Amino acid sequence: MSLRFTEQDMQNIEVICQRYPDKKAATLPTLHFAQKKFGYISEDAVKAVAAVLNLPVAHVLGVATFYTMYNKKPVGKYHIQVCTNISCALMGSREIFQHLRQKLGIASGETTEDKLFTLQEVECLGSCGTAPTIQINEKYFESMTVEKIDELVESLKKGEIDV
Ligand code: FES
Repeated sequence: MSLRFTEQDMQNIEVICQRYPDKKAATLPTLHFAQKKFGYISEDAVKAVAAVLNLPVAHVLGVATFYTMYNKKPVGKYHIQVCTNISCALMGSREIFQHLRQKLGIASGETTEDKLFTLQEVECLGSCGTAPTIQINEKYFESMTVEKIDELVESLKKGEIDV
């Protein structure tokens, strides 16, 4: 196992664990912490989380692979997730997704050559009331249109905004 948590990371994870009844229940937030630190959840990251929580690797791997919010491979600086589930689809998210595919020249799950954008088609993001919803890294962008996503992507490229 080549990935390791630092002493400071261990303290942060301890704080996370204190919010849960036991370490098993802290698996999701600890994986989230690991994703932020390592960029994505590799096999080594799974092992590091299992070790720090003193849980079986199989349990952590099961959780990491079940939830789509954990990236199993490296993503670009901006991870664009477009919900194409029913509410968002009815409000035009599939057109937005297709537009992004063409604009960025990548398919779902792919990353641009400059490593700036990863595009991903995802299931419901839990924000159906303001469909179409797009998530970029940790941030939600709601009631999106093709025009709005164009402006957003250009601003991200120019470094005018960060997410
Ligand atoms: S259907 Fe898109 S956020 Fe729920």
